[in-house]
Amino acid sequence: MTNDALQLPGQTLTLSGGSTIPLLGFGTWQIKGDDAVRATAAALEAGYRHLDTATVYGNEAEVGRALAESGVPRDQVFVTTKCPPDNAGKELDTLKKSLELLQLDHVDLWLIHWPGSGSVNTDLWKAFIEARDAGLTKEIGVSNFDAALLDEVTQATGEAPAINQIRWSPLLFDAQTVGDHRDRGVALEGYSALRGGTLDHPVIVEIAERLDRTPAQVIIRWHLQHETVVIPKSVNADRIRSNADVGGFELSAEDMTTLDGLGS
Ligand SMILES: NC(=O)c1ccc[n+]([C@@H]2O[C@H](COP(=O)([O-])OP(=O)(O)OC[C@H]3O[C@@H](n4cnc5c(N)ncnc54)[C@H](OP(=O)(O)O)[C@@H]3O)[C@@H](O)[C@H]2O)c1
Repeated sequence: MTNDALQLPGQTLTLSGGSTIPLLGFGTWQIKGDDAVRATAAALEAGYRHLDTATVYGNEAEVGRALAESGVPRDQVFVTTKCPPDNAGKELDTLKKSLELLQLDHVDLWLIHWPGSGSVNTDLWKAFIEARDAGLTKEIGVSNFDAALLDEVTQATGEAPAINQIRWSPLLFDAQTVGDHRDRGVALEGYSALRGGTLDHPVIVEIAERLDRTPAQVIIRWHLQHETVVIPKSVNADRIRSNADVGGFELSAEDMTTLDGLGS
């Protein structure tokens, strides 16, 4: 099969710092070593232009190698990495190490991977703003934050995170969470969309069979139609390609409502 056979989604979102993030990205959690090089290369070959890694994934060097060897121009790929809150106080060194491993002079998005306790989040957020202003990352954001934590860092600095990456799928849909992010101008990025029983949920399977699509494609398409960033992970080249082949169909308003209803 050639890439011409794939119908990639072209949707993007403009983040608060002005960058454009492709709604579809490639997740790399739990992919290590040569698998990480192969899978990232397969994703880039399939047409993904957004890669999601993290310091704690231990695969930044492999993701960076695949990107460098892909021949895809740097400015055409959106790269995210994340800093664990345990690295507060040495966050700048953490980012510089990420950049070295990724073979990049900046990332497109740097996230606080999960909330720390006490003053860690606001201290980290101030350092994140400095790193962004120094040009080491285009955008800054958080992950696994709730609305109160988003407000805490925003009020401390006058600057809201561009994005919050949280666990998300039709089974977790919650209009309040969507509204909380919209009201704050924080983009919603979902992770683990294909976990937690989504792939064999009877309602999702029914929609997939009716549309002659896979359950994964239905779930990814649901994110895109909500303008939610989605970052499916796979080590399997066929699934990597199939998960990106979601530009050629649309879920009806009725199917979208049905899928939203799975979260309530
Ligand atoms: N910020 C955070 O705290 C956080 C937490 C978790 C994840 N993430 C990010 O979000 C990304 C996605 O989440 P995730 O890694 O939990 O996994 P996911 O995308 O929900 O995928 C879960 C599993 O589904 C399988 N899969 C993928 N495509 C499939 C398909 N078409 N049909 C059947 N099975 C399929 C994959 O196995 P195979 O590899 O065997 O195909 C994968 O292990 C991560 O890789 C990471 O980048 C962030």
